[in-house]
Amino acid sequence: MTHRLAVLISGAGTNLQAILDHITAGELPATVSLVVSNRAAANGVAVARQAGLPVAVIDHREYPDRAAFDAAMIERIDAHGADTVALAGFMRILSPGFVRHYQGRLINIHPSLLPLYPGLNTHARALEAGDAEHGCSLHFVTDQLDGGPLIARASVPVLTNDSVETLSKRVQQQEHRLYPRVLRWRAEGRLQLTDQGVELDGEPLPATGMQIDAPA
Ligand code: GAR
Repeated sequence: MTHRLAVLISGAGTNLQAILDHITAGELPATVSLVVSNRAAANGVAVARQAGLPVAVIDHREYPDRAAFDAAMIERIDAHGADTVALAGFMRILSPGFVRHYQGRLINIHPSLLPLYPGLNTHARALEAGDAEHGCSLHFVTDQLDGGPLIARASVPVLTNDSVETLSKRVQQQEHRLYPRVLRWRAEGRLQLTDQGVELDGEPLPATGMQIDAPA
């Protein structure tokens, strides 16, 4: 059966678009069973609708607490089926119950070279620190915010005249390559989270994940 992806978004949906483009191109053997957005106005909702995908808008403000919001998401996601739940710019912190429910099938993309800069404003922080390189990371989600076991990272150079805009654009180009690739590993049954850590083809990955930089 085709690998089913549930994709959770809050914003522009460019990673969702990249995932869909790779599926269409035959480079990602998966189907998107559901797109969940906590914001009705998110551009990613339009991306999903344009692609004819099932969309659930679940507004966190309509729930008394995080656990109730997460329970509503679990109900919808499980009703559609998900072999992997992909956070693609989903900007809510998930409850321990949600993380546990999808343990080993919950993946996040983060716009920094983790463990550097968990949390928000990663591009500004990399610029502020004068870093020579920056990038993005994919990791399995655990209770530790942006701290779960790393799967893959891609780095980009920071240029002297970079702004948050130019730097984030360069990082996002890498995100759009990296996420479909990692999801392909999942779809092909090659990528697992085990008690020993992250394994690709049965071999443990280094603690920093696989380094996959842009071709020169
Ligand atoms: C991406 O750059 C992703 O790395 C980041 O949000 C952006 C979403 O863009 N995620 C986080 O900051 C998670 N903490 P998109 O909606 O265009 O895919």
